[in-house]
Amino acid sequence: MCGIVGYIGHQEAYPILIKGLHRLEYRGYDSAGIALINPTGELNIYKTKGRVSDLEEFCTGKDISGTIGIAHTRWATHGEPNNANAHPHYSESENLALIHNGIIENYSVLKEQLVQKGYHFHSQTDTEVLIQLIEYIKTLNNVDLCTAVQLALGQVIGAYAIAVMEKGNPNQIIAARKSSPLVLGIGDNEFFIGSDASPIIEFTNKVIYLEDEEIAIIKRNEEPKIVTIGNVEKTHEIIQLELSLSQLEKEGYPHFMLKEIFEQPNRLRDCMRGRVDVTGNHIVLSGIIDYREKFLNAKRILILACGTSWHAGLIGEYLIEEICRIPVEVEYSSEFRYRNPIIYPGDIVIAISQSGETADTLAAIEQAKQQGAFVYGICNVVGSSIARNTHSGSYTHVGPEIGVASTKAFTAQLCVLAMLALCIARERKTIPETHILELLNELTRIPNKIERILQSDDSIQKLSNIFTYAHNFIYLGRGYNYPVALEGALKLKEISYIHAEGYPAAEMKHGPIALIDNEMPVVVVATDNDMYEKVISNIQEIKARNGRVIAIVSESDTVVKTIADYVIEVPTTADCFDPLLTTIPLQLLSYHIAVNKRRDVDMPRNLAKSVTVE
Ligand code: F6R
Repeated sequence: MCGIVGYIGHQEAYPILIKGLHRLEYRGYDSAGIALINPTGELNIYKTKGRVSDLEEFCTGKDISGTIGIAHTRWATHGEPNNANAHPHYSESENLALIHNGIIENYSVLKEQLVQKGYHFHSQTDTEVLIQLIEYIKTLNNVDLCTAVQLALGQVIGAYAIAVMEKGNPNQIIAARKSSPLVLGIGDNEFFIGSDASPIIEFTNKVIYLEDEEIAIIKRNEEPKIVTIGNVEKTHEIIQLELSLSQLEKEGYPHFMLKEIFEQPNRLRDCMRGRVDVTGNHIVLSGIIDYREKFLNAKRILILACGTSWHAGLIGEYLIEEICRIPVEVEYSSEFRYRNPIIYPGDIVIAISQSGETADTLAAIEQAKQQGAFVYGICNVVGSSIARNTHSGSYTHVGPEIGVASTKAFTAQLCVLAMLALCIARERKTIPETHILELLNELTRIPNKIERILQSDDSIQKLSNIFTYAHNFIYLGRGYNYPVALEGALKLKEISYIHAEGYPAAEMKHGPIALIDNEMPVVVVATDNDMYEKVISNIQEIKARNGRVIAIVSESDTVVKTIADYVIEVPTTADCFDPLLTTIPLQLLSYHIAVNKRRDVDMPRNLAKSVTVE
């Protein structure tokens, strides 16, 4: 999704902004642009369709001087990706420049009014409407820029994170947000703006997260001032971020995705650190313990999420129902928010989101809260909107996930759900204490088992060569491995652009079996668990129709190995933790196929890392 970076201080802005744009590339974008005010007060905008490197090329030989600037990577919503639609946008007089993340929903009404007043538009974007509106209000009322921004935002319906600069005023940036994150970095007599902390962390770890409908007036050599749209002054605590620069680097891996796949053993150890103590037979999730009564008396749990996080939710459903005996429903946030859902007193909502910024999940949380639900968040990004808008929750603690395709965040979500289920089961005494201890011990062995799977990377890479040119894939799994099949298919399609579908294995004969022939690769998760015999029958059905089976099997397997065309082994574990292992080879398979196809693995086309628009 779009990225924002801004700078005002004593250094040249251009190199800082370009570096920041590179750090934001992971969010997904299709054009990039920059606005600078040079020492004589001129406001220059340079922008182009394509990559940040294209922007750098475009800026060669141009005036890139100035110690104040704003820059943007755009992920198209209104209007195709082209030079005109790229940000920043000028106002009519070209005195103001604006960058914007989010969507102005009432832009067409506002645009029509502005056109009638003689304003001209050069793009199809909603953003250009906003900067024209700000200028119109500024001129009409003869007010300063901040007041004009306040008045304009008062007329706007939608979501925004914006930064505005004014020609002739090299000493001020105005930034504001609503439903789209914006962070202000506090340096030594210099200030930074970011849509997340990644473009800032290299320069300062001191940040302020703006709240909804807040405006930051950032002036050279002055403390930033924060006011609301209604002009109420606000004070904010400065937060010290623990993010390190190395977490934003590839550290020798060719792609962030591969780095993040290989990081999983250590990140899961981080996720469990201080929460699971096997020697003391202890499990503590403070977010649960602080609200013990609610979880003790919960009548139902609703899990809300999107995409990969929704797949984690499906596994959470199986797990919580099995060991906590609480009914669970899992729903796409985007569906939940537009229904009139029934929430009973005593219902608990669990919202799962890596970014903590997914617009649909945020809106679904609001809907649930309005209906009286207690909402528990499972997020990765510390300080994110979902983390701040839930009653309680647990971070996954896996550090920044840069690859657009979610990998380590998914396994960490599963790990948090496992800890959460074990905590609740212990509180509710729904399974014997001995069983809890067995599961707890097994959970701590998972990182070592993942390390063993990662050793098969070379053979998975060789296997990927055989299937690089397949046009379709089917993924099958049952029980806990059914959501793994969905996740395997999603991973393959998003980074390789190969069409892939995931199904519960037994559903195959209700339709998808018609697709099976000797050209159809079928990935079957067939580990040695309660569903093993059933899955073997499903594999036989595929083989009888000449399908090509790639099976994920347990190391101890003897049967599937003789039927499947190719096998990838994983260690055995408790059924409920199987997804933590079976997911890994599917991540690697997708990765290698995408690399073979020369896809942009970390930034697949059309995708965004954090989906802040609906
Ligand atoms: C897939 C992927 C997406 C996200 C989805 C939700 O690899 O990353 O499907 O899972 O956009 O994002 P979060 O978890 O940030 O709410």
